[in-house]
Amino acid sequence: MDFTELARKRYSVRDYSGEPVSDGDLDAVIGVGMLAPTGKNIQPQRVYVIRSPEGIAKARSLTRMAFNAPVVLMVSYKKDEAWVCPFDGHCIGETDVAIVSTHMMLKAAELGLGTCWIGCFDAAAFAEAFGVPDDEKVVHLMTLGHPSEKAEPSPMHYASKAPSDVVRYL
Ligand SMILES: Cc1cc2nc3c(=O)[nH]c(=O)nc-3n(C[C@H](O)[C@H](O)[C@H](O)COP(=O)(O)O)c2cc1C
Repeated sequence: MDFTELARKRYSVRDYSGEPVSDGDLDAVIGVGMLAPTGKNIQPQRVYVIRSPEGIAKARSLTRMAFNAPVVLMVSYKKDEAWVCPFDGHCIGETDVAIVSTHMMLKAAELGLGTCWIGCFDAAAFAEAFGVPDDEKVVHLMTLGHPSEKAEPSPMHYASKAPSDVVRYL
């Protein structure tokens, strides 16, 4: 599929079929994430693949946003590794993991898998429940799985602003 068509067709999937994600597809998704650019190529990201029955049950007990996905990716970064901008002291770890996850999201879409990026969750509760080390910041979750037959884009998917609303040519 042409990239623009892929970007247009991808949507947030919030209902999954019972089909598991194959190891090959999971490896492909994670592998493309590892190709993502990061500040100074430090690659401070850490990706936790939650897919055991116990892990999924725990994730679902902590958030309804895990939906019925067979896999939940929990993405964090090493706070003491990520690059810090010398001009304003801003740590770009969250930017790094956003790019990694965008790569994974689009690879999943290419494979016919669905994802939903989850920012509305208790990151501290997830970090504690899954034993994430203190030197990492959990930033977001991403559900992953085969879309159910009923899955469809929400109306928000179609609400793209016009370039004239957000782009300024200087
Ligand atoms: C940073 C970020 C955080 C998001 N957090 C959530 C979330 O917590 N729960 C949810 O259901 N969707 C979440 N989404 C999905 C957005 O609602 C969705 O991408 C947007 O409405 C556009 O729809 P589409 O992905 O179907 O094109 C998030 C997306 C992004 C990029």
